[in-house]
Amino acid sequence: MSVTVNGKQVEILISEAEITARVNKLAELISIEYKNTKQLVVIGLLRGSFIFISDLVRRLNLPVEVDFITVSSYGNNTESTRQVRIIKDLQTPINSRDVLVVEDIIDTGHTLSQVLKILNTRQPQSLSVCALLNKPSRREIDVNVKWTGFDIPDEFVIGYGIDFAQHGRNLPHIGFIKNSK
Ligand code: IMP
Ligand code: MG
Repeated sequence: MSVTVNGKQVEILISEAEITARVNKLAELISIEYKNTKQLVVIGLLRGSFIFISDLVRRLNLPVEVDFITVSSYGNNTESTRQVRIIKDLQTPINSRDVLVVEDIIDTGHTLSQVLKILNTRQPQSLSVCALLNKPSRREIDVNVKWTGFDIPDEFVIGYGIDFAQHGRNLPHIGFIKNSK
C-alpha cells in the first residue's frame, strides 16, 4: 500500500501494528535491564525520535527522567569534516547516572558516534543506545547499539517521527520514498 506525502509516493515498509509490537518488546527488555536503576535518564535526539521516545517511555516499567538533545546534522559534508555540534543541550546532569540514548535511525553511524563521545565526557555510570531503525549496509563507523527495532534496507524512510525535508513525521507507519534513488 502507498500514500502520497508532499507529492511523493511512499510505500509502507513497517505498519503501525508492527511498530507497536516491537516497541512493546523493546520496552520489556529495557525494563529488565534497568530494574535496579533508581531513575533511568532517557535522552531523545530531536527531532526524529520524538514519537518513538514517547511511545517507549510510556511502556517502561521503571522510574525515568526524560530529556532531549539536538545536534546539527552535517549535511553534505565529506566524511573528514563530519562534525556534529550541540544546538540544544541536555538540562540534566548525567554524571553517575544510567543513561539510555533513543535515536530514530542509525545510518552511517557518525551522528551517534559523536553524540556518545560527547556524553561520555560527562561520566555517566552507563551509556547505552536504543535505535528504532538501523541501516546496516550504510554503516561507516562502528557504534554499539544495544537495542534495535528493525534492520532496514538502504532506502530513504519517513513516518513515525522521521521526516523528509520536514514532511511525513506524522505518518503512523514507516514508509520509504519510491524512486528516491
Ligand atoms: P548517520 O550519522 O549517518 O548515522 O545519520 C543519522 C541521521 O540521519 C538520522 O538520525 C536521521 O536523522 C538521518 N537519516 C538517515 N537516514 C534517514 C532516512 O532514511 N530518513 C530520514 N532521515 C534519515
Ligand atoms: Mg536523527
